Amino acid sequence: MHFLASALLALSISSVPGSTLELRHPNPAPKNKVCTVKPNLNGSDDTPAILQAFDSCSKNGHIVFINETYHVDTVMNTTGLENVDIDLYGTLLWSTNITYWLNASLPFGYQNQSSAWWLGGSNIRFDGHGYGTLNGNGQVWYNFVNGESNYPHRPHALTIWNSRDSIFTGLRFVQSQMWTMTVFKSENIFMQDVYINSTSDSGSPARNTDGVDTIYSNNVHFDRMTIINGDDSISTKANSTNILITNSTFINGLGVALGSIGQYDGVYEILENITARDIICENTLHAGYVKTWTGERVGYPPNGGGGGLGYAKNTTFQNFTVSALRGPPFSISQCTTFSGVAGDCNSSEFLIEDILIEDIKGTIDADPIATYQCSAAAPCRNITMLDVELLTVNGTVATGWSCSNLVGAVGFTC
Ligand SMILES: *[C@@H]1O[C@H](CO)[C@@H](O)[C@H](O)[C@H]1NC(C)=O
Ligand SMILES: *[C@@H]1O[C@H](CO)[C@@H](O)[C@H](O)[C@H]1NC(C)=O
Ligand SMILES: *[C@@H]1O[C@H](CO)[C@@H](O)[C@H](O)[C@H]1NC(C)=O
Ligand SMILES: *[C@@H]1O[C@H](CO)[C@@H](O)[C@H](O)[C@H]1NC(C)=O
Ligand SMILES: *[C@@H]1O[C@H](CO)[C@@H](O)[C@H](O)[C@H]1NC(C)=O
Ligand SMILES: *[C@@H]1O[C@H](CO)[C@@H](O)[C@H](O)[C@H]1NC(C)=O
Ligand SMILES: *[C@@H]1O[C@H](CO)[C@@H](O)[C@H](O)[C@H]1NC(C)=O
Ligand SMILES: *[C@@H]1O[C@H](CO)[C@@H](O)[C@H](O)[C@H]1NC(C)=O
Ligand SMILES: *[C@@H]1O[C@H](CO)[C@@H](O)[C@H](O)[C@H]1NC(C)=O
Ligand SMILES: *[C@@H]1O[C@H](CO)[C@@H](O)[C@H](O)[C@H]1NC(C)=O
Ligand SMILES: *[C@@H]1O[C@H](CO)[C@@H](O)[C@H](O)[C@H]1NC(C)=O
Ligand SMILES: *[C@@H]1O[C@H](CO)[C@@H](O)[C@H](O)[C@H]1NC(C)=O
Repeated sequence: MHFLASALLALSISSVPGSTLELRHPNPAPKNKVCTVKPNLNGSDDTPAILQAFDSCSKNGHIVFINETYHVDTVMNTTGLENVDIDLYGTLLWSTNITYWLNASLPFGYQNQSSAWWLGGSNIRFDGHGYGTLNGNGQVWYNFVNGESNYPHRPHALTIWNSRDSIFTGLRFVQSQMWTMTVFKSENIFMQDVYINSTSDSGSPARNTDGVDTIYSNNVHFDRMTIINGDDSISTKANSTNILITNSTFINGLGVALGSIGQYDGVYEILENITARDIICENTLHAGYVKTWTGERVGYPPNGGGGGLGYAKNTTFQNFTVSALRGPPFSISQCTTFSGVAGDCNSSEFLIEDILIEDIKGTIDADPIATYQCSAAAPCRNITMLDVELLTVNGTVATGWSCSNLVGAVGFTC
């Protein structure tokens, strides 16, 4: 079983042609202890029992959640695991005590972001078998913040912290409180068959419900993700390298994002070797886009900032099928400033170069195909677009490129 998981993992990684990803996942050692979490089944807090299981089975252990609902009323920090299998056959349901979570959510040291659960370690295999569910009870949060961006201490559902050689598979995340997952300071992470759906049923938007964000992480592969949400589908932020996204469907969100980046004045951050291929986007704003802060700092993170340095280099968007996109499928904007207001788009020194976009089909609401608003202080370099065949909703062939400060447009004319 464990050998099989490892063999499957090796297979799926090596079957990615041209991938730089190399997941070093040694055959996991056998598990010598099983910790089955006993649910209370009366609505009281199951967190103590969950933490007890993680504590007892933190090395070479097997943690099992049975097919029942577990109530999570307190923060969890289950990090430093070594060679642990987690099988989730039931539902983890987070409580709606906003006062509690705003006081207690665990900050991870980027912007003001914080999380309800930190999970981390090496050789973790977290399997929901297509059924196990993490339910953040997010509607109360969508209503509470009512569209306000980056509300302080509003918790993310799960932060994968300081982890390596780990697999997340068959999990369902519904109604996440804020971002669903953050992969933070982690390496060699494989995520497959994960379903995420954060959808508001009130007039308040599901804002900041990013699917997954990667920060200070290397070698992360997302395969067969389904993400329905109200913000970035997947976002690669500060120092994300060798990120691969394959065979995934994104609905209603903003598409695959690089950034925002460049928020920290004078700080050097990079994005390198980001590839998304074989992707379906339905009703998203973009298919793929890059966003940086302006060159001058206005205010401070999370909602202010700017003046960051660095580059985004070697990005590939390949084989996207899009339908009814709400905005230009591809976009670069270097204008982000305080509270998302458009600032001086020409001041960012963050360099964007070597983008390949190829084999793009489907329908968009309206022209243009791309808006590349690059900064005069560091013009974008070398963007190639091949085999783009898009129709507007009216059936006319989509045309049009809107560019500024782009040097080296290959396959299209600005
Ligand atoms: C709920 O169940 C747990 C475990 O059986 C028990 O310890 C606790 O007292 C029960 N709480 C209530 C309010 O019934
Ligand atoms: C879990 O339990 C529910 C009923 O509570 C049942 O409908 C479902 O099939 C069970 N799932 C699994 C995977 O056993
Ligand atoms: C909500 O959390 C606060 C702060 O932890 C606590 O004082 C309060 O009793 C909780 N309310 C409920 C209904 O549990
Ligand atoms: C979580 O636990 C780890 C130790 O495993 C510790 O380094 C980290 O600071 C803790 N995080 C928080 C927010 O308490
Ligand atoms: C997402 O969840 C909403 C309910 O929150 C549901 O109505 C919708 O069908 C789900 N979408 C998909 C594509 O699963
Ligand atoms: C994605 O799907 C395609 C077509 O089914 C398949 O050829 C490819 O191997 C898959 N990629 C991964 C990484 O599984
Ligand atoms: C981010 O990457 C840059 C370039 O490799 C490096 O100089 C910087 O130290 C990294 N920052 C962090 C926090 O790892
Ligand atoms: C660009 O990244 C892809 C993987 O995303 C990799 O296969 C390719 O070798 C990289 N190209 C360069 C020039 O680094
Ligand atoms: C990007 O991919 C190329 C080609 O595989 C590799 O040489 C380079 O080290 C990668 N860059 C980073 C930052 O990992
Ligand atoms: C392109 O992606 C679609 C899924 O959106 C997949 O079915 C198809 O096999 C891919 N094409 C190639 C050539 O890999
Ligand atoms: C332009 O970018 C492509 C990848 O998108 C890369 O293969 C090519 O070498 C780059 N050209 C130059 C002149 O750097
Ligand atoms: C589509 O047609 C409608 C009605 O003629 C028009 O108002 C709209 O601007 C057209 N949209 C595009 C993208 O051409």
